[in-house]
Amino acid sequence: MSTTIAPETVTVKHEIKDITLAPLGKQRIEWASREMPVLRQIRDRFAAEKPLAGIRIAACCHVTTETANLAIALKAAGADAVLIASNPLSTQDDVAASLVYDHGISVFAIKGEDNATYHRHVEMALAHRPHIIVDDGSDVTTTLVLHHADQIPEIIGTTEETTTGLVRLNAMFKDGKLTFPAIAVNDAETKHFFDNRYGTGQSTLDGIIRATNILLAGKVIVVAGYGWCGKGVALRARGMGANVVVTEINPVAAIEAAMDGFRVMPMDEAAKVGDIFITVTGNKHVIRREHFETMKDGAIVANSGHFDLEIDLVALNDLSESASFVRNFTQEYQLKSGKSVIVIGEGRLVNLAAAEGHPASVMDMSFANQALACEFLVKNKGNLPAGVVPIPKDVDQEIARLKLQAMGIKIDTLTPEQVHYLNSWTEGT
Ligand code: ADE
Repeated sequence: MSTTIAPETVTVKHEIKDITLAPLGKQRIEWASREMPVLRQIRDRFAAEKPLAGIRIAACCHVTTETANLAIALKAAGADAVLIASNPLSTQDDVAASLVYDHGISVFAIKGEDNATYHRHVEMALAHRPHIIVDDGSDVTTTLVLHHADQIPEIIGTTEETTTGLVRLNAMFKDGKLTFPAIAVNDAETKHFFDNRYGTGQSTLDGIIRATNILLAGKVIVVAGYGWCGKGVALRARGMGANVVVTEINPVAAIEAAMDGFRVMPMDEAAKVGDIFITVTGNKHVIRREHFETMKDGAIVANSGHFDLEIDLVALNDLSESASFVRNFTQEYQLKSGKSVIVIGEGRLVNLAAAEGHPASVMDMSFANQALACEFLVKNKGNLPAGVVPIPKDVDQEIARLKLQAMGIKIDTLTPEQVHYLNSWTEGT
């Protein structure tokens, strides 16, 4: 670990915090790789077959140890990839350094970069003139369509990691502006069943605990949104002994939450009883002025949805006479009413701002989908429709098979009699 790095000798283009952090990043990337057996197998096949030779990729992801393993796999496949952050607060600076120094991959990302720098990095990703955009939240694709339409003819397609990004892409398609294929990585079963639920569930609580070191047992935790992410957060919060309240706008999801054993109520009521609030809705201003006004003194609010607008911080600022950091990533707002509200991670993704994001074992499947989605785009160049395109079912199933194999779990196979039964309609009572 005592490598001496001379920054001036690094020729790969980059804009990162500190290249001398590379040895630590390298060690942590290798640690994550141990838990990513599916992606490792894909990387090894990619290295032999080079399915992305000559393909320029702009990847906009959280710059984590797991993303590093994806970027390494894309490079092994022959791609010329650059990486930027998909959130100003989610970059792990040591990982960025190692990708540049040890792997020769251009990275433009610094933890804590301001919004102007974030947008400049999006522009730098597009200046790479990508054939494929690997997106997380759809900021690069949106910027391409709004401001660089001249580059669209060079685009083979995009791959989208998140629910939020797919909502944007579907809206873009409805508007007639999405004129190339966008692979819905998020919708693969091997992605959202695990990453959104168990990944967000664990890493969100990890972020809150690292930031505050508070005991969750006995606390009232309000989870806003009962999609896959909300389900995971509620499940894990209950597992830690919290008394979980769910808020929803979708009546079906609300019944699900109630039958899963959670209290369900509107935010107006939840605001009065919660100790900790976690937003995971994908919508804006889910916690707003009237909610802050009725919260208990010292209530903690955090967001684990993609964008930082679920908690209305403008309203909170307006209600407050001061705000100050009381711990890393933890700000206390002193309200003019005399109460205080604690905000973690500036309302940005708490699991990535205050912790390390989802653990590698779930990102293994998410990023196996990303890698195979890139290969699928190249293999089917010119033959896919414009708009949001699902990941092929056989790709999803293959990832599940490889993951099970790596976990040492065997399952049954259908007998010929069962296959026949499932394909017939004559056998009944
Ligand atoms: N999104 C959530 N967790 C992540 C991680 N560990 N790496 C990349 N993207 C993520």
